[in-house]
Amino acid sequence: MEKVVLGDIVKARRGRELAVLEECQSTNDVVKSRVPTGKECVVISRRQTAGRGRLGRGFDSGEGGLYMSLSWIPRISLEQCLPVTVLAGLAVCTAVDSMCGTATMLKWPNDVYLKDRKICGILTEAVMSGGAFAIVIGIGVNLTNKLRGEVGKAGTILQLTGYAPEREALAGEIIRTLDLVFDELETCGPERLIREYAQRCVNIGREVTAVSGGEAVVGRALGVDGDGALLVDTGEGTIRVLSGEATLRSV
Ligand code: BTN
Repeated sequence: MEKVVLGDIVKARRGRELAVLEECQSTNDVVKSRVPTGKECVVISRRQTAGRGRLGRGFDSGEGGLYMSLSWIPRISLEQCLPVTVLAGLAVCTAVDSMCGTATMLKWPNDVYLKDRKICGILTEAVMSGGAFAIVIGIGVNLTNKLRGEVGKAGTILQLTGYAPEREALAGEIIRTLDLVFDELETCGPERLIREYAQRCVNIGREVTAVSGGEAVVGRALGVDGDGALLVDTGEGTIRVLSGEATLRSV
């Protein structure tokens, strides 16, 4: 279990605790270890030694990127929290665009793209521990960090815009936009947010292969429902894909 540097903990938005670390294995794991406290917290680290990605992958976490996780103790049911996986991506897009003047897009469920390069990945986990429950949202943004080897279609904000926002300033803006998403989900539900998400989602209206739990669903992506599931028209009906990933197919 990671040691949180208590001296660095200050009050953040919603009364969260904030810890800024030099290094940890994974900020998601640090935040998960604090779920039993029953308090929300934010952890930011300069680098991670074992950054985790979705679907069991690793996440390149060298110095110069923003690696942060926060916990959300929802005032709604777990079922009603499902869309937060996709909506966390929308919050990051909004924050990055407002600070960098960019026009970021989303690849379902929550990869953030700029000019056809992935600049941010998000790992959302529901955690029940010590009798307490929280949703942990981990966000990795490529700012000025060196991307190791051939990292597929990844890029940094610096490479793509010639500018990179200050790490803590971007973290603060992401926390602000995420809190707006949490508030709206808790008070109004997901409908308006999902419409906004759909406007940014590159998959919608395109031919995709969506892979979930080893099963591939091939067809046209019609939209995203109130749970954040991708709706795929296979020609024989519409399939809801609740988790996994979707690649665009050239037809
Ligand atoms: C993905 O692209 O597959 C998701 C990557 C999520 C990376 C972030 S970095 C901060 C937090 N800590 C982790 O170990 N993972 C997330």
